[in-house]
Amino acid sequence: MRDFSGTRVLVTGGGGFVGTRTVRALAERRANVRVLDLAAPPGLADLPCEVVIGDVGDPETVALACDGCERVVHLAVLPLGRANAAVTEAFEANVRGSFNVFRAAGENGVKRVVYASASSAYGPTNAVPIREEHPLRPNAFYPASKAAGELLLRGLAGTYGFSFAIMRYMNVYGPGQRAGVVPAVTRALLANERPKLTGDGSLAFDFVHIEDCALANVLALESDIDGEDFNVGCGDATSLNELVAVLSSIVGVHVEPEYSGETVAAPPRVGDPSKSRDLLGFEAQIPLHEGLAGVVDELRAAEPVGAPD
Ligand SMILES: NC(=O)c1ccc[n+]([C@@H]2O[C@H](COP(=O)([O-])OP(=O)(O)OC[C@H]3O[C@@H](n4cnc5c(N)ncnc54)[C@H](O)[C@@H]3O)[C@@H](O)[C@H]2O)c1
Repeated sequence: MRDFSGTRVLVTGGGGFVGTRTVRALAERRANVRVLDLAAPPGLADLPCEVVIGDVGDPETVALACDGCERVVHLAVLPLGRANAAVTEAFEANVRGSFNVFRAAGENGVKRVVYASASSAYGPTNAVPIREEHPLRPNAFYPASKAAGELLLRGLAGTYGFSFAIMRYMNVYGPGQRAGVVPAVTRALLANERPKLTGDGSLAFDFVHIEDCALANVLALESDIDGEDFNVGCGDATSLNELVAVLSSIVGVHVEPEYSGETVAAPPRVGDPSKSRDLLGFEAQIPLHEGLAGVVDELRAAEPVGAPD
């Protein structure tokens, strides 16, 4: 893998879940990393990176953060739940913020931008697996804001002539994740409580470990492939019931999930990983069992409820 010595890389949202792992992966490859985030990120305290506190919604802050950078990874986001609940705020952070980042990249002579989009930008679909050429038909504001970012990036890359890659992460999980089904089920099992699942637990997703997500970002940043979009996943379907079974065996408890609500019949939501493999050389490295064991270790240490007798 490439050595980024002497390369200054701006990572927006570098203090978040994906950001801290991406910054770590870049620092390990000797990049000079600059983070732009709303607050001082505690997860970066032990890393040699410069931190700019500021809002991607403010063009002047973004321009200063971009100054002297050769490459940009744009991750800053108002996340799903908050974005769907507060669309104006989400527009400012996710749409105007992305515009500011891509424009500042162009104005400052940045050579390459990697943009974190989301597989939710595809919207509801019966396609299995989902390939990158699938149309983007988001049905909520958060995925619409991610899709809008993709189009703004394509347009501004054309205006300014920088190269770029768009990453559509599937279901990212791993240590450091605060919200989502993996930490929720793990916390319940560690407390010997029944994990709550919506529907009958048959819905299946493509879980990808955070370290693999960071690896994909680094591969995209170093690549010369221009203007492409990439699924970032394993290509394997894991149902929520299977997830609970694996986590139960790791934790060492056997409790039935508590099912509630309607079961919405939907095919497994899995991304085709072949384009990322063929063009970026990306293949997820961390098997689900191993990755989930790391989550259990982290949450057990954070909330020492212990395994039941
Ligand atoms: N985590 C996932 O499962 C997942 C899946 C698909 C796509 N993504 C995408 O990956 C990227 C990173 O997601 P994450 O899970 O790390 O999110 P996160 O919420 O953990 O981190 C986002 C970071 O952005 C910062 N931020 C928010 N608004 C900002 C603003 N206005 N200016 C500057 N910084 C701001 C936050 O402080 C935070 O540190 C996002 O673009 C997201 O859409 C994540």
